[in-house]
Amino acid sequence: MKENQVFRVTVTDTYNDIFHLAFTKHQYPSLMALIANTYPEEFGECKGRGLCGTCHVKITQGILQEPIEPNEIKTLNSVYNTDNNSRLACQIMLNKKINNITFKIINDN
Ligand code: FES
Repeated sequence: MKENQVFRVTVTDTYNDIFHLAFTKHQYPSLMALIANTYPEEFGECKGRGLCGTCHVKITQGILQEPIEPNEIKTLNSVYNTDNNSRLACQIMLNKKINNITFKIINDN
């Protein structure tokens, strides 16, 4: 795999606006940082420490083959409106595992 290979994700915001975001492997520390770089509203209050839950997203298309760490589950359990598709964007790394996945931003925490 080329080091500068470009991957893509689709992100739907709370107004159902759709963003197509391109990235290279580990271009930002996490999906949260990639979204925060584009998204005009506050996103990711704790800056990626996995504590606040304000980077809650749901996978709406695609499958992310990656186990969820216990700390992420603990934080998700403290926010509203979670389901089996919920993740913290700050705990998702930018790599080919998320290529072509669609995420929806959930902000009603
Ligand atoms: S930025 Fe706070 S939990 Fe992700």
